[in-house]
Amino acid sequence: MGHPLSLHGHLKIFTTIDEMRAASRALRGAGKRLGLVPTMGALHEGHLSLVGSARAQCDAVAASIFVNPTQFGPNEDLAKYPRPFERDREMLEREGVELVFAPSVEEMYPAGAVTWVTVEDLCSKLDGRSRPGHFRGVTTVVSKLFHVVEPDVAFFGQKDAAQVAVIRRMVRDLNFAVEIVVCPIVREADGLAMSSRNAYLDAKQRREALVLHRSLMRVEELARAGERDAAKLAAAGRAEFENAEAVRLDYFEIVDAETLDPVADVSDGALVAVAAYVGATRLIDNVVLAPYR
Ligand code: PAF
Repeated sequence: MGHPLSLHGHLKIFTTIDEMRAASRALRGAGKRLGLVPTMGALHEGHLSLVGSARAQCDAVAASIFVNPTQFGPNEDLAKYPRPFERDREMLEREGVELVFAPSVEEMYPAGAVTWVTVEDLCSKLDGRSRPGHFRGVTTVVSKLFHVVEPDVAFFGQKDAAQVAVIRRMVRDLNFAVEIVVCPIVREADGLAMSSRNAYLDAKQRREALVLHRSLMRVEELARAGERDAAKLAAAGRAEFENAEAVRLDYFEIVDAETLDPVADVSDGALVAVAAYVGATRLIDNVVLAPYR
């Protein structure tokens, strides 16, 4: 029986690797182009935009819901990370997702697992510098998801710009036969980038969190007005945080979007990336400056 909210009613949930792989192989064997949207659940409009792109570009869509313990540091929010599985399931079904992979931690990491995928160098830039081990956890789980689901295309959000750079490099270096599609940041009406972690913010923090977007807009405005010096642009972005009492800036950097190395001049385009703690909640956001010619 389909769920009452279901418009499509075709969603199948798999908790084991063997069943998931058999289902995706059956679809691909029938000639369908399969898209994968990897998630940690607690879905919002940003995730749904990934599903929308996957539906537009593929014949069938799989999503994974797995709160991956290896990408959380010891003092991070693994235990309290929201897990509204039934709500997520309904949303995915309504969006026309066919396959959901929702394994247990034991299924993904059998006892004795000691093999990691690490994208050296890149994994210690931006969020990787602030969150040691984070990207090793991401690239390991994403590799595993690619092996299990064997998608033709996988969809990621631009909000996690450093994650995008790390995954693209991994796919290139290890010859994964998967195309990576990156979808634009989805924002609330007032500019706050959608994130599952926004749910942690109280009303005051929610208002203060707008400084991330404001700082990026300030940099974009100055760059559009002709400023090309990355140090000056970054200083202007950081200055926006001076009056945000409840917000602690983690980093505000202007880097090359592929290598994540700092740039001195933004004429060839650049990634402007920010991370900050609003209370105990770490939020990230970014904007891409197009090349000026
Ligand atoms: O972006 C995320 O939600 C996670 O890092 C991902 C890609 C699902 C891996 O756990």
